Amino acid sequence: MSTKNELITELENLQKQAEQDLAGSLKEKELQAWRTTYLGRSAELVQIFKRLSESPPDERARVGQLANQIKNNLEILFNQKLQKLNQEQLEENLQSERLDVTLPGRKPARGRLHIQTRVLREICHIFAEMGFQIFRGPEVESDEFNFELLNIPAYHPARDQWDTFFTTKEGVILRTHTSPGQVRSMRAYAPDPIRVILPGMCYRYEQMDASHEIQFYQVEVLAVGKDITFANMKGTLEEFAQRMYGEQVRTRIRPSYFPFTEPSGEMDIECFVCGAKGCPVCKGSGWLEILGCGMVHPVVLKNGGYDPQVYSGFAAGLGIERISMLRYRIEDIRHFWGNDVRFLEQF
Ligand code: DAH
Repeated sequence: MSTKNELITELENLQKQAEQDLAGSLKEKELQAWRTTYLGRSAELVQIFKRLSESPPDERARVGQLANQIKNNLEILFNQKLQKLNQEQLEENLQSERLDVTLPGRKPARGRLHIQTRVLREICHIFAEMGFQIFRGPEVESDEFNFELLNIPAYHPARDQWDTFFTTKEGVILRTHTSPGQVRSMRAYAPDPIRVILPGMCYRYEQMDASHEIQFYQVEVLAVGKDITFANMKGTLEEFAQRMYGEQVRTRIRPSYFPFTEPSGEMDIECFVCGAKGCPVCKGSGWLEILGCGMVHPVVLKNGGYDPQVYSGFAAGLGIERISMLRYRIEDIRHFWGNDVRFLEQF
């Protein structure tokens, strides 16, 4: 019997060494390095297959078998170790990414409608309930509709009331009020009776201060028919004021002047801040102006296509920022379109 086959000794040593190296706590990288060392293409174990001829012929099969066995064994050990490592890693991740489902949630930021959009919708809703339809006119208007057809000819001193933004195109301006919609809607409906409101943005070339803005919302109210009277107007506007400010609100109509209405008036509501006693909000008068109104001027009726001998109508113009300012006690009109979220978020 020859001495113990040298290759077998080598194999046994290799196995021992490999198992020893694998025993410690290896990281993934070290584990991969171990695999390269003992099972990689140039690993000693693999090389032994090429060296089988060093053994006596009758032992080669045994050596080959043993080498295979050891190789398989080491592969199994490697896989076990890898699995264990992955499991440990998973548990570690679960620990570090632990989720406390009982924590209170974070509130997502939420957009909302602009305060003026909401107030405008509320006003439209009130008038809709009284049978008024919405009619829209353009914000870029002609001088003709904004002034001429409303009985305000060029060079008429009343034009001073509306500081106007002109465009570079002759006769094209930004509307200074929603009143041009009066003639537009009349021409759309004549000779049928009309009950419309015209909401929209208006523009004026103002020196801005706490009560003057260069852009603001208005809602125009217009009713035209065969028997429309001043009493109809008074009743409609009083009804509006009550729905807007509460049933107990007291109103009054003062005479005023507008070129497109005759007679013209302005409606006040009793100051709800001081209960009509007089305070800084109502400037001591006890009353707050909320709109301009009047019976549609015969010239305007005619421009709209209605015979003033047969038809009559009333109109009113509401400033929406003013209505919001009174309701929410906002002291500066510039807040509305200044786009400061600290203001907008309050509504
Ligand atoms: N258009 C006027 C303005 O902006 C407001 C107004 C007054 C409208 C009387 C009307 C009205 O319809 O009858 O100053």
